[in-house]
Amino acid sequence: MTLSGKRILLIIGGGIAAYKSLDLIRRLRERGASVRCVMTAAAQQFVTPLAAGALSADHVFTDLFDRQDEQDVGHIRLSREADLLVVAPATADLMGKLANGLADDLASAVLLATDKQVLMAPAMNPRMWSHPATRRNRATLEKDGVAFVGPNKGEMAEATEAGEGRMAEPLEIVAAVEAILGPVPEKPLAGKKIIVTSGPTHEPIDPVRYIANRSSGKQGHAIAAALAALGADVRLVSGPVTLADPAGVTTQHVESARQMRDAVEALLPAHAAVFVAAVADWRTETSAGEKIKKVAGEGPPVLKMVENPDILAGIGHHSSRPGLVVGFAAETQDVLRNAEAKLKKKGADVIVANDVSHGEDGAGVMGGDRNRVKIVSKSGVEEWSEMTKQEVATRLAALIAERLVRS
Ligand code: CTP
Repeated sequence: MTLSGKRILLIIGGGIAAYKSLDLIRRLRERGASVRCVMTAAAQQFVTPLAAGALSADHVFTDLFDRQDEQDVGHIRLSREADLLVVAPATADLMGKLANGLADDLASAVLLATDKQVLMAPAMNPRMWSHPATRRNRATLEKDGVAFVGPNKGEMAEATEAGEGRMAEPLEIVAAVEAILGPVPEKPLAGKKIIVTSGPTHEPIDPVRYIANRSSGKQGHAIAAALAALGADVRLVSGPVTLADPAGVTTQHVESARQMRDAVEALLPAHAAVFVAAVADWRTETSAGEKIKKVAGEGPPVLKMVENPDILAGIGHHSSRPGLVVGFAAETQDVLRNAEAKLKKKGADVIVANDVSHGEDGAGVMGGDRNRVKIVSKSGVEEWSEMTKQEVATRLAALIAERLVRS
């Protein structure tokens, strides 16, 4: 169903090719699209609204001044409540009207009122098609962003005439519609709840100071967005970042490691969890209620550090452990050996190991836009070439989908 859920507004112009538009309705609906028809007065000389209505299983709109239709739907809503407007057959008259902004009937008014893509399938006598006025109108329409399919060469209804002007076949028009609307993306992760952690954590020392790291959240946020694009119900728990919340993702904001752990635990159960956050390993044992002041003669304060909870390890060994647990490993040395050790210690199924040693002060990966990772799991090691964090996210989301669907 390449056009599943897509809404097509089909404007049928007056020409003998209108009979092919009836077949077009059927072909579009077979592919999952819903079709609503507008017919010009001339079109009704060739095919009936009854036929178009029966095939589209919807009301057919014919009159700009029909009080009931205008009250119920209205030509503005008609033109907006569609993903694509298809004009087939597009007569010289309809092309001329839209090119010049005329709107004296329902079809032309709808075309002028729309903010959606328009696809025209012209059909007319070859002389009309090659007339300078039609050529001018076509050029204007193309400049305005209207797409065209056909016309084709071949015999015309008038047996004596041949040349360019025959309307494209219904399946050619369908292919053009699919090219514009694109195949409906697959949603292999529909119905899967996935937790993602992202960004750094801030561990307060006092009300104005904190311990942090260089994580920007770019990789974690990109992964959350890529999983959502595959249909997952993504719950992002984000440390302090300057990035916008990814679209289509439920985002929760936290500051410290302990807040992040609590948020993640509250989200269980889930099908999968991806731990991308660069959680601070340590925090100060206490956080001062007031700003720590310099006191003359006393020297700098000594901060006693304690370990933060390891969120990944906690979830990796949790009684409600998600079926798939993915961790990251930021390493500057012995990347593979450390990643393999983390896999075991933290109870993860997959560790995405990235070498943060390259770049100034490790800033190449932390905060940068590119990443080079190795995918470490029980089944071995996969090395990915250097690519953007966006690409890493897309590939990792596909890998997660494959593992979740297989299990
Ligand atoms: N992680 C976590 N909670 C922590 C520390 C790390 O959930 N308190 C997660 C990270 O999100 C990441 C993985 O554990 O998925 C590895 O983090 P990393 O900092 O590379 O490793 P560490 O556990 O800190 O080990 P080491 O300091 O020895 O490198």
